Amino acid sequence: MIVLGVETSCDDTCVAIIENNKILTSIVSSQTDIHKEFGGVVPELASRDHLKNIQFLVEKALFESKIELSQIDFIAVTYGPGLVGALLIGLSYAKSLAYALNKQIIGVNHIEAHLTSIFLEKEIQFPYIGLVVSGGHTLLYKVNNFRNYEIIGRTCDDAAGEAFDKIAKFLNLGYPGGVIIDKISKKGKCDAISFPRPMLKPDNFDFSFSGLKTSFINHVKKNKIKETDIPDLVCSFQEAIVDTLVHKTKEAARKFNVNNIVVTGGVACNSRLREKFNLIENNVYFPSPNFCTDNAAMVAHIGYRYLIEGITSNYSLEPIPSLKRNM
Ligand code: KG4
Ligand code: ZN
Repeated sequence: MIVLGVETSCDDTCVAIIENNKILTSIVSSQTDIHKEFGGVVPELASRDHLKNIQFLVEKALFESKIELSQIDFIAVTYGPGLVGALLIGLSYAKSLAYALNKQIIGVNHIEAHLTSIFLEKEIQFPYIGLVVSGGHTLLYKVNNFRNYEIIGRTCDDAAGEAFDKIAKFLNLGYPGGVIIDKISKKGKCDAISFPRPMLKPDNFDFSFSGLKTSFINHVKKNKIKETDIPDLVCSFQEAIVDTLVHKTKEAARKFNVNNIVVTGGVACNSRLREKFNLIENNVYFPSPNFCTDNAAMVAHIGYRYLIEGITSNYSLEPIPSLKRNM
């Protein structure tokens, strides 16, 4: 079965073609250069760029995978959560193409696609604790099977990636902040400044990063920070985020008696996060970095899992910006 995947929920236009569970091609057109001058994603600019690129990227994906349009069996497309205008471009495109080709579509929950993206590269055992950490989300799930997962924790305010991006913007380091802070931190001491580890109470799996962000900003305002202090400063900040994420996920695994952990989303590319997760006793799995950040292969993949169970969507599918569950 050949599935075309389309993902436009935020600031990357992504198209992929998979055959059963095998990736034929996965293309990501990043909009970082468009948004970096604003220090964050500008929704209207994101939608316009998706519209400009989507047709070309589908043609490129067909060319790269040596597949004719007529060979596509299904189209899987993200319909939430995400920016409504951005979702609308991918969804309208997918619905029109499916209608023209007389093929079915399957609407995919972006978070569910992240949670199960590990299966693009590895077959692992259910259940597992899934941590999705990105610019828009910090979510903790117990994943019992495909289509069967329960939320056990979420952020009350900023997402972890958002906290990285805001701090980098505050220090004028550039965008996206997480990547830059990760790089600079390699030259810093992570115990130079003791920032709070937010909400480390037992049996509470929710996250909050806005207090940590405020504590960081207050520290910078109170002390005369020099250029040479930045590595220690951001490294200590990164350490507080990493410790919180690792601690809560490990505690969730203990509480629910689950040994396997999957960490995904853009922040899962963070080198310190990977290092510290690899020190704990659980089996911890990370997708490759290009499948941690937004991509359409993960969308095609979970779409395929639904399709083989006979579940499809109809053409009246609409974007749901705050989508919680699929179907
Ligand atoms: O999953 P993603 O590509 O897009 C969504 O937000 O859905 O994640 C982007 C986020 C940004 O906030 C970015 O700063 C963060 O992931 N990020 C990182 C790293 N690479 C990307 N954060 C920390 N360390 C990294 N190496
Ligand atoms: Zn994402």
